[in-house]
Amino acid sequence: MKEQELKIACIGAGNSGTGHMIWFEQRIPNSIVAFCDLDRTIFDKVLDGYLGKGKNIAGDFKQDASGLAASFRDLPFYTDADEMLDNEAINTVLICTSCDAHAEMVRKCVKRNLNILLEKPIAITASDIENVWSLLKDYPKVATVNFTMRGAPVSLAAKQHIQNGTIGKIVSVQYVNNVHYGDVYFRNWMRTRQRVGDLWLQKATHDFDIINSIIGLEPLSAAAFGSRLIYGGDMPNDLTCDDCDKKWSCPMSIYRLQFDAAKPLPPQHLRQCVYAKEIDIDDNQTAIFKYQNGVNVSYSQSFNAPQQGGQRGGYFIGTEGIMHLKYYNEFVETPQGQMIAGNSSIEITRYHQKPASRIHEIYDWAGHSHFDGTEYVYEAKLALLTGQDTKVKNTAKEGYISAKMCLAAQKSIDSGKLTAIDLKL
Ligand SMILES: NC(=O)c1ccc[n+]([C@@H]2O[C@H](COP(=O)([O-])OP(=O)(O)OC[C@H]3O[C@@H](n4cnc5c(N)ncnc54)[C@H](O)[C@@H]3O)[C@@H](O)[C@H]2O)c1
Repeated sequence: MKEQELKIACIGAGNSGTGHMIWFEQRIPNSIVAFCDLDRTIFDKVLDGYLGKGKNIAGDFKQDASGLAASFRDLPFYTDADEMLDNEAINTVLICTSCDAHAEMVRKCVKRNLNILLEKPIAITASDIENVWSLLKDYPKVATVNFTMRGAPVSLAAKQHIQNGTIGKIVSVQYVNNVHYGDVYFRNWMRTRQRVGDLWLQKATHDFDIINSIIGLEPLSAAAFGSRLIYGGDMPNDLTCDDCDKKWSCPMSIYRLQFDAAKPLPPQHLRQCVYAKEIDIDDNQTAIFKYQNGVNVSYSQSFNAPQQGGQRGGYFIGTEGIMHLKYYNEFVETPQGQMIAGNSSIEITRYHQKPASRIHEIYDWAGHSHFDGTEYVYEAKLALLTGQDTKVKNTAKEGYISAKMCLAAQKSIDSGKLTAIDLKL
């Protein structure tokens, strides 16, 4: 298909969906033909920001929308996905709803044989994950899962080092993700099992995929622990920091955090109380995975790291050296939420090199999200849609394997037992 033939619709036009639509529309004018959401509030607010009529709240997928026509807001809008898919001439669908609706939307698109650009995770229940995989395994059209970090230049370089044998054969991985904006996950719909599954599926899924990509092996089994020690409680579900009488005294108030720690204020729809009753997901988790070839991987994530405590990445230990991958090497985020400086690094020390010798690489991502993966992943999707090859395929298989690791980790927590990953590839 030629770029000009792309007719894209979005289901779930929130922060991610709207960002994706704007990128495609800017790159290929008139490629976005319609969108569907149960409620277009986020779409309208995000667009207001882009069109200079309000604060820019675009989030993770913020674009340079300088050429965007004001008429973009008049796109055909539907609240029912079937109605949109039946009425509009569409060949490609961005699925960006909350995670609980991903599987249902994949089924609708597969039924109509459309290209599918699916947000991660592929689904959140065991049966839906298997169902989505069975539908997409041999799907004749394009089907991608949005693992944005795969496109980051530092991720590709790390993978290349392992493939080149720079540290010999991989032996083990020690990986952490300490999330310095972790409270945000507890200030919106992502805080309940029903909507998100858990934070394995919401967050760790990216890191599991990165580990899989870099070491190129399949995971076999998982043992994990998790607990909730920071967030949740007995506050009303609809309470926000704005309406709370503890606005200035609560240590987790967004206003207190901005005052004491220069933490950027989140947009209006991400301000719910982190001590709400409905919160039922763990806020810290640790897993160990056994991979093919006897390789062991440990992974730990936490959601209450301070602003400068954000850490993501790990040590990849090989027979001939160690590669230290740091997604957050250095970064500076202003109190207004702009990442004005940021870079990732790879440091490799090798067994047969003099002690102070090392390979040291820096990858600048200032001003770009997902460590500079966002735009490269969009380009990769465009390449696939137009029949070209790309290093960043973001396949359904990658989405399936990572989701199965998440399920196995949670099952291990729930059962207290070592859990087989049981991939049906
Ligand atoms: N790849 C990444 O790096 C990345 C980053 C952030 C979010 N995400 C994923 O993107 C998805 C959306 O997250 P978000 O932060 O944009 O959330 P959001 O709340 O901003 O947007 C979700 C939108 O989906 C809509 N929606 C929910 N159910 C629907 C349904 N049945 N039909 C139509 N619309 C429906 C909601 O009304 C909302 O507007 C999630 O699956 C999340 O995991 C991925």
